[in-house]
Amino acid sequence: MPIETLRWTGETDGRLELIDQRLLPGRCEYLPCETPQQLFEAIVTLAVRGAPAIGVAAAYGACLAVRSLTGGTLTEALETVRAACDDLAASRPTAVNLFWALERMKKTAESVVADNPGCSVDVFKQALLDEAHAICTEDKAMCDAIGRNGMDLIPDSGAVLTHCNAGALATAGIGTALAPMYLAHKNGKRFRVYVDETRPLLQGARLTAWELIQAGIEAVLICDNMAASLMQAGKVNAIMTGADRIAANGDTANKIGTLGLSILAKHYGIPFYIAAPSSTFDLTIENGSQIPIEQRNADEVSAFGLRQTAPENMNVYNPAFDVTPAENITAIITEKGAIDRPDRKKICSVLG
Ligand code: MRU
Repeated sequence: MPIETLRWTGETDGRLELIDQRLLPGRCEYLPCETPQQLFEAIVTLAVRGAPAIGVAAAYGACLAVRSLTGGTLTEALETVRAACDDLAASRPTAVNLFWALERMKKTAESVVADNPGCSVDVFKQALLDEAHAICTEDKAMCDAIGRNGMDLIPDSGAVLTHCNAGALATAGIGTALAPMYLAHKNGKRFRVYVDETRPLLQGARLTAWELIQAGIEAVLICDNMAASLMQAGKVNAIMTGADRIAANGDTANKIGTLGLSILAKHYGIPFYIAAPSSTFDLTIENGSQIPIEQRNADEVSAFGLRQTAPENMNVYNPAFDVTPAENITAIITEKGAIDRPDRKKICSVLG
């Protein structure tokens, strides 16, 4: 059964349902969201997470803003959507898919009003829901294409290492970094996936491990600090991770710890791949130094679950992401093809 990370149920007055990823792997339950505020909370607390999934969820967030409108003017409806999009944009700063999807929803709302000023609020709501569904469908297609473009890079009878979760739970489809693994496995390749647990919030241990086990792919969990010795022992043939934002020169922000893996990969001569859809590229910024990095709460580091593991009031450094320089990346796999040794020119040419 494919994992359905998020789904809209009903018509324009329906609601968004998200697999509540805070509960995994213990329980797989859907969290209903009926207001943009509930969705905001779900994004901030990582009930829904992963750059593409955040983008798709935010697109539906614009629909949530108007789902219960029954009257009023078109101008009021447009203002409601704009305000909800602006609020949702403040939920998390790094994954550019969030801003990309919200911009697209705002533009849709604006063009409905500009092109058809006499239309009803119901028509306006339907146009927004159609656009959110389109974003969701496109995301699924991009995941499939990334899988096809990357499956040959998965070593038969070898091992891949991945970090965080860039699988189905991070997208509307089969994932980005895990997509080539799913398709390679489906096509008969047999390989092992080393899963970094991904401190502090354990997206690898809780989510990637859960996904891979369901897919019947051999998965081995490691603590993040074991990756170097694994590579030194010659047990890793390739590293594949997702991305939260890719600058025009190919510098890539992803879950904290990715940079270290890329440096190790260079040291040990292991190919280091990023898998991401075009919606994760931010061509408005020149390089990775301009990517905003989310800083999260201290208690994510000073406690393990509910158990305090550091002295109370300990000072903590907790950036959620780091930036891997383009020079450490062997290739970026997109739905439009692989970009070998990425730079500005190659990125522009592949993305068109
Ligand atoms: O903090 P998270 O769990 O949202 O971080 C997610 C990641 O870093 C993923 O690797 C990235 O979003 C790519 S998901 C296809």
